[in-house]
Formats: sequence, C-alpha cells, structure tokens
Amino acid sequence: MEPDSPHLRGCLVVFEGIDGTGKSTQIKLLADYLRSQGKEVITDYEPTRGEWGMKVRNAALSGERLGIEEEINCLLQDRREHVRELIEPALERGAWVLLDRYYLSMMAYQGATGVNVEDIREMNEEFATIPDVAFWLDIPVELAMERMNARGNGKDAFENESFLQACSDIYSSMEMPWLFRIEADGTIDEVHAKVRDIIHSEL
Ligand code: TYD
Repeated sequence: MEPDSPHLRGCLVVFEGIDGTGKSTQIKLLADYLRSQGKEVITDYEPTRGEWGMKVRNAALSGERLGIEEEINCLLQDRREHVRELIEPALERGAWVLLDRYYLSMMAYQGATGVNVEDIREMNEEFATIPDVAFWLDIPVELAMERMNARGNGKDAFENESFLQACSDIYSSMEMPWLFRIEADGTIDEVHAKVRDIIHSEL
C-alpha cells in the first residue's frame, strides 16, 4: 500500500454504482481505515457543489433533467474544475483521494440516455486522471429502490427503476483493469472487508 512512484504520488480510489448501494458509507469506512494507517485522505463527490455541479443537481431535484447536451457539458465542466483544483493537487502531494462517483457515472447515467458509452469515456479521459482503483458496488435495482424509499428524502429525476436498470447494465458491461465489482448486498462490514482486500492487493 505504499505509493510506489518516486514522487510519492497519492492514489485515486473511486466508488461507483447506482443510488442506494452504500457508496458514502463505504467511503467513510475506508477513509477511517487509511487514516488509522497514517495516510492523508481526502473524500469528495461528484457532481460537486460548485456552479456547474449545482446546475445538474438542482435540475434533477426539480424532477426534470437538463437536456442531455447541457447535462454533459455541465458535468464535464464540473469535473474539469474538480480534477484541476482538488484531485490533482491532492494526488501530487501524496494524499489518497476517495471519490463518490466520477466519470464512470457519466458513462452509466448519460450512457443510459443513449449517448455512446465509449465516446463518453474518451471525452473524460482527455483530461480526467484515470483511477488507480474503482469499485462498482453492485446490488439488484429493486433493493436499491427499497433503500431509497426507506431513506424517505424524495427521489430525483435519475431515480426510477427502469433508468437505474439501464445504468446498472452499463456498469456491468464496463471492462477496465482497475475496475472491481463488489456484490454489495451483504452487511456493511462484509462489503468493507472486500474493499480492504482489494486495496491491499492492488495498491
Ligand atoms: P448522487 O450521488 O445521487 O448525489 P447525492 O447522493 O448527493 O444526491 O448524484 C446525483 C446524481 O448525479 C446521480 O443520480 C447520478 C448523477 N450523475 C450523472 O448523471 N453523471 C455524472 O457524471 C455524475 C458524477 C453523476
């Protein structure tokens, strides 16, 4: 788990999956664990709360998404700023960066709207740092919907069953050497143990 470049560059670890899979819980547990090992850890999420990310969030909360072109442009602009202002500087100084969603979300969510998934990957990898490890927390869509309903804080325009099934299908079709699928319908501790095993074996 030691950063292996001569400049002690940090590691970028991304958590992905449809809503209700437990990404934020797992990020917190991994952050606590890494900090207990003396590492500097930054946790963050996308879309950010910056100008561009908020445009997408506010539209989704109002129940109506932006047009797909505007949505993609806002999300790319949001990610560009995030990479430049937070992610890269943290990695450069040797910190671990744990992200709740990154460009695989765009492949899944905007891909599920009909945009070519490989094109989305390319437009992101032009500027976005490639993760060292990404976890796809996979649970059946019905279970994710149940969890969201139990949370009771209302659904946004992305959160309906057939759309999330399409997103899930795209996640399952992704093949990157740094992407790991984790069955996330076990207990919080079971999922965390799997996350830790992969971190130990890969980084
Ligand atoms: P979400 O993780 O649900 O935020 P929160 O838990 O704070 O409400 O993210 C909001 C939505 O943004 C989510 O439904 C997926 C969507 N999204 C995209 O469509 N494309 C992207 O590139 C990203 C990062 C998110």
